[in-house]
Amino acid sequence: PTIYAITPTYSRPVQKAELTRLANTFRQVAQLHWILVEDAAARSELVSRFLARAGLPSTHLHVPTPRRYKRPGLPRATEQRNAGLAWLRQRHGHQRAQPGVLFFADDDNTYSLELFQEMRTTRKVSVWPVGLVGGRRYERPLVENGKVVGWYTGWRADRPFAIDMAGFAVSLQVILSNPKAVFKRRGSQPGMQESDFLRQITTVEELEPKANNCTKVLVWHTRTEKVNLANEPKYHLDTVTIDV
Ligand code: UGA
Ligand code: MN
Repeated sequence: PTIYAITPTYSRPVQKAELTRLANTFRQVAQLHWILVEDAAARSELVSRFLARAGLPSTHLHVPTPRRYKRPGLPRATEQRNAGLAWLRQRHGHQRAQPGVLFFADDDNTYSLELFQEMRTTRKVSVWPVGLVGGRRYERPLVENGKVVGWYTGWRADRPFAIDMAGFAVSLQVILSNPKAVFKRRGSQPGMQESDFLRQITTVEELEPKANNCTKVLVWHTRTEKVNLANEPKYHLDTVTIDV
């Protein structure tokens, strides 16, 4: 099956660095299709040029987050992930689904290559641990007799699916047979996006544990420090135009 990675991304000083790390990983994964969705009113020059040279099968989409939703404490990238879902449904809607696995790959996380081997065998919805998240070294699904029976987490343990966006994959078939499943803004509390989405398409009992019964961390919720540009000149002082 093809792995479809949906990556929301937005313009900021570290964007190209993040996308470079991500492309360097994805380039080593067989049959991966990268769906990059810019949080912007139009496709940017930077991302267009970057993708053209990335050497990866890709689709470049864009949708701006409405201004009222760009506030601390509100979920991020809702519209962008939905745009990726809509593209997948449109592209595969007419025919019988080709084998595929969908995964939400934020642009700042760190992904091991082994993770892609694990997720490729997803039948419906698979799950695995995520490192450096929830105020702990890792969060993970608790597994008994091959079934998920609970969650090891330090944050909002009451979540129906106490898992980060980087902790699950969904088969294309499940995406197509649940055409209305989307990320929702209305009524979605912080940290509930994953649960709100997953409850539309699966149950905890049905989840397929990966990464040796969820005992291996293969993805890390790394976050890039805000870059210090305090010494940037007010006016352009460099003598040539630099491709940053
Ligand atoms: C956590 C989760 O890991 C995310 O999956 C979730 O979307 C996010 O919380 C949330 O609050 O909604 P965190 O590291 O705090 O992640 O979020 P970011 O990495 O800053 O953003 C998630 C993704 O959305 C990234 O790919 C980022 O490039 C993108 N993004 C962020 C936008 O497209 N627009 C923005 O304004 C901000
Ligand atoms: Mn992040």
